Amino acid sequence: MSSQNKELKNLLVINSSARNRNAKSRNLAETLIGHWQKIQLNTKIQHRELGNQSIPHITEEWISAAFKPIENRTQDELNALKKSDEYIKELKDADIIVVATPMYNWSIPSSLKAYIDQIVRINETWKYNPDNIQNPYIGLLTNKKVVLLLTRGSQGYEKGGYNEHIDFQTDYLKRVFHVIGIDEIHVITLDGAANNQEEYNKNITIAHEETIELIESISS
Ligand SMILES: Cc1cc2nc3c(=O)[nH]c(=O)nc-3n(C[C@H](O)[C@H](O)[C@H](O)COP(=O)(O)O)c2cc1C
Repeated sequence: MSSQNKELKNLLVINSSARNRNAKSRNLAETLIGHWQKIQLNTKIQHRELGNQSIPHITEEWISAAFKPIENRTQDELNALKKSDEYIKELKDADIIVVATPMYNWSIPSSLKAYIDQIVRINETWKYNPDNIQNPYIGLLTNKKVVLLLTRGSQGYEKGGYNEHIDFQTDYLKRVFHVIGIDEIHVITLDGAANNQEEYNKNITIAHEETIELIESISS
């Protein structure tokens, strides 16, 4: 089904595999982009590379800057937030945010974690509600969708699966995007890179098909 919506859409594609060649998560992102471009002609695509970049960790200056009003920040503090400002602007500009990431050590690559520390920022992507101590987060990024393209070497990470209890990738990423205001989160998984190759090849085909189906359903 083709829906060539006239409205300009901004697609932000975030890659965090340390592999550049034949990274399965990057391949899924490419399939997504390719299909998106077929059915949504009026699209701006922004790429954010994490996997082979040095993503700054937050620092003492970053923390002191982030938690005070902009007018009270020193020049050094403003500088400490520069990357965070850049990443957050990209997120604010995006309609659809695609995060393509492998599982590393049952969680996410440290580059993606460093990025998350830069973007989960008080009064920029969330604000604090002191009246609701049990759930004090008010997300500030609204009207956006997230697509998580998750690759794993093992399998059994699905709900009820034998590895569900060591999946610190899926729910963590969902939680982070939920806290900053995004409720529509879609997940595609590609598991089993370390297992039977024939079965894995089938999983690859299925994950790419699912990615295309998902794009058909969310692009309009
Ligand atoms: C450093 C490293 C750690 C990994 N840790 C896990 C893990 O904890 N669980 C798992 O199922 N697979 C793990 N894998 C396998 C990758 O998740 C899997 O190969 C995935 O398909 C890689 O995605 P990519 O091809 O996009 O880089 C790990 C791979 C690497 C390189």
